[in-house]
Amino acid sequence: MDKIVIDGGRRLSGRVPIAGAKNAALPILIATLLAPGEHRLENVPQLVDVSSMLSLLGRIGCPSLVHDNLVRLDTSRVSFCEAPYDLVRKMRASVLALGPLLARCGEAHVSLPGGCAIGVRPIDQHLKGLERLGCQFELSGGYVHGRVDRLVGARVPLDIPSVTGTENVLMAAVLARGESVIENAAREPEIVDVVRFLRSLGAQIEGEGSATLRVQGVDSLSPSTEGYSILPDRIEAGTYLIAGAITGGDVVVERVKPEDLVPVLQVLRAAGCTLEVGDEHVRVTRDGPICPVDVTTRPHPGFPTDMQAQVMALLSLAPGQSVLTETIFENRFMHVPELSRLGADIRTEGNRAVVNGVEQLHGATVMATDLRASASLVLAGLAAEGRTEVLRLYHLDRGYEQLVEKLAALGAGVARVTDDLERLRSAPVSRVGEVG
Ligand code: EPZ
Repeated sequence: MDKIVIDGGRRLSGRVPIAGAKNAALPILIATLLAPGEHRLENVPQLVDVSSMLSLLGRIGCPSLVHDNLVRLDTSRVSFCEAPYDLVRKMRASVLALGPLLARCGEAHVSLPGGCAIGVRPIDQHLKGLERLGCQFELSGGYVHGRVDRLVGARVPLDIPSVTGTENVLMAAVLARGESVIENAAREPEIVDVVRFLRSLGAQIEGEGSATLRVQGVDSLSPSTEGYSILPDRIEAGTYLIAGAITGGDVVVERVKPEDLVPVLQVLRAAGCTLEVGDEHVRVTRDGPICPVDVTTRPHPGFPTDMQAQVMALLSLAPGQSVLTETIFENRFMHVPELSRLGADIRTEGNRAVVNGVEQLHGATVMATDLRASASLVLAGLAAEGRTEVLRLYHLDRGYEQLVEKLAALGAGVARVTDDLERLRSAPVSRVGEVG
């Protein structure tokens, strides 16, 4: 199992290019099923989750070619309408295959994603929304089996502004007969990017970024001749801004959309950071101490839950008390006991974490539990005095492209250690002459 080793206490400085957004790339990749033909996607992040999604598309019958951040995908033929358990268990976003497969093939067989470290993560909103468009589902053998003769536009009121729930319904509605209105839709920038991609295929959608999406169904969609470039990842950008803030350094994140980062920038300013905001970059420095801030996660345009763990690492060094309230997921404090191993003083009470800032964090070996918790531990390790080792790197590989390389380029004392040596040490040794 690989690990990251960090010698903390160094101020990070420099410029870091931000990759395409994982949570826009994943729905856009599967949405190519809606438009048979050859697609060209640029600024696709090189992540394990993207590879998993391309594997799923390959299983469905759609081959792809990847060259750095360019993906070419051929969705001319669909051979199977199934997202199997062995892929879904590795990546919950496989549930996004439901809408496109139902729209393309009239059927879909998708393994139930199951829960994950941060919560049960049901998909009732996805199924209720698709049923409003005429789909029928039955659950058996750990799979959702969906069928539809003809998608028909409808009003789809979501009980929760689910991000992937909104995307699944939207990807079916674009090929439904008539108009659909999705109410209480998610407003995340990644949703806006999915809408823009679907529009590039010929879809007719209005209201992106608002809570109401109005869709005029069309008979067919076709690949854009110009291709499409994925929007920058606001969560990756926020993570590197906190790397600069927590080390008291001077970091510029490049190729970003600052307007997507507003709630994060507001918290960084309140925490005592100085920000320089350009058209496509944000620079963070900090002169004085980190200031305590109370943060509550909300659906966009509120503070993103995917930045909660990272900002907790920062506030663990803010003299005074900060209260973080997690309103999106029921179990997204798995990083707290690990941050405590580094010397943080945090106690959780239900969905609130009360952080009492400490003078200094101290290096230790810590265990990552989910994608953003892993990032939080790396950030804390960058500030801690001494050596920190972060285990279970596969979480980080799902969502951060070239994390170690980018941090090292900013001056961090960081390395990835593949424990081949430990594998060799633990491998069974057969003695010469020993039989059977
Ligand atoms: C998306 O997950 C993101 N993933 C998550 O990012 C992100 O944390 C989350 O949105 C919230 O912003 C992708 O886009 C691939 P939700 P999603 O449906 O769509 C409940 C990361 O780190 N809910 O908006 O699964 C749900 O349990 C990942 O990149 C239902 O009850 O999140 C949660 O409490 C982690 N029924 C809340 O709603 C449903 O049918 C919000 O979930 C759907 C969701």
